[in-house]
Amino acid sequence: MSLPLAGRRVLVSAGPTFEDIDPVRFIGNRSSGKMGIAVAAAAQALGAEVVLVAGPVHVATPDGVRRIDVRSAAQMREAVLGELPADVYIGAAAVADFTPRSVSGHKLKKTAGSDTLVLELVRTPDILAEVATHPRRPSLVVGFAAETHDVEHYARGKLANKKLDLIAANLVGAAEGGFERDDNALTVYWAGGERTLGPAAKTLVAAQLVALVAERLDG
Ligand code: PMT
Repeated sequence: MSLPLAGRRVLVSAGPTFEDIDPVRFIGNRSSGKMGIAVAAAAQALGAEVVLVAGPVHVATPDGVRRIDVRSAAQMREAVLGELPADVYIGAAAVADFTPRSVSGHKLKKTAGSDTLVLELVRTPDILAEVATHPRRPSLVVGFAAETHDVEHYARGKLANKKLDLIAANLVGAAEGGFERDDNALTVYWAGGERTLGPAAKTLVAAQLVALVAERLDG
């Protein structure tokens, strides 16, 4: 019997993006890449050809997965769009929403007499929304939503606004987790349905998510 994702191409993003301020400083976030990389491993285990676009992380690449390393949101966008077409896109990366308008070529110095530094930030392109409206749109586009409150409300908003097929929402924050730790809990929403996965090890939650993706792809 063939595996559920045999013959399918699955593109996964994972980890944070780092937005450079100057040669020694950047704006980043707490994503370790564990969740997205577990998703890539789970898709490979179900028989898919998997391409993983990863921000700066320290997690090993799963066997059989092709990985493209990037740093910034702009680089992640270029790598993701460059890997289309795919049957499925799963955006687990914590992509920066803002990036400095310009990167200083030299280390920013403290100015005598000034206790503040003003950085001008501009919006980054929304990779997930762009994939979902792309001429080579994957059959299934799956987003993640990291929320500290009103999880269903915000997740369903992103599902609709970004024109997604599924969104996997996790509660994040100092106590709840999501970022960095080895376990997670997801509630996956789609038009007319939802399913709770975990709490459990990210490897297990990822396997359940990918099984649901395979189910929805067939359905
Ligand atoms: O990496 P870990 O430490 O294991 O932590 C896992 C996780 C908490 C990072 C992961 O489970 C998760 O929630 N990932 C999405 C984090 C996030 O940035 O969520 P968001 O609600 O801000 O973004 C919504 C969606 O839009 C995400 O799929 C994101 O990849 C995508 N996005 C956001 C901004 C942008 N410019 N481009 C995007 O594609």
